[in-house]
Amino acid sequence: MQHQRIALVGFMASGKSTVGKSLANHLQRPFIDLDKHIESSTGKTIPDIFSSLGEEAFRQLERNGLTNVVRGDESIVLATGGGVVTQAANRDVLKREWTCIYLRARPETIRRRLQQDGVVRPLLAVDNQTEAIRSLMGLRETWYNEVADFTVDVDSLEIPAVVSQVIDWL
Ligand code: S3P
Repeated sequence: MQHQRIALVGFMASGKSTVGKSLANHLQRPFIDLDKHIESSTGKTIPDIFSSLGEEAFRQLERNGLTNVVRGDESIVLATGGGVVTQAANRDVLKREWTCIYLRARPETIRRRLQQDGVVRPLLAVDNQTEAIRSLMGLRETWYNEVADFTVDVDSLEIPAVVSQVIDWL
């Protein structure tokens, strides 16, 4: 059975927030971005959290955020952060309580979009970004597949086409 709550999952810069906003708009549901939720609840930006508290503290905030972001039976559309699937507890919650849409993108697509969107990703602030993308993606791909109820290959699609694939599937 599919859940009323829809979570977008996928690698950094795969389009989760943009697709999520547009999907929520089409479905007339509230939209929440998990990273923004963490930023407003802590009063810190994601790079600040990584640099002042460390990744483990960020993962704890992310775990709490995933379970606290929804009240009761509220049907929302949620854009998760690309690393949400790294924690087994989160994967369990996503499989149990959410319909998960995986936005799958090739490393070359991610690299291009990272340059365009201007958002700072602490985990990719390294010299060899292409290598970092490939290796993180290699680690995480199984987990995205594990939670996914539906997958969209986004490499050659504009946002409206991604949204309409999801709506057709729902
Ligand atoms: C992360 C992805 C980011 C953000 C943080 C860590 C990751 O979100 O949560 O920088 O580990 O993949 P986006 O996927 O929205 O970039």
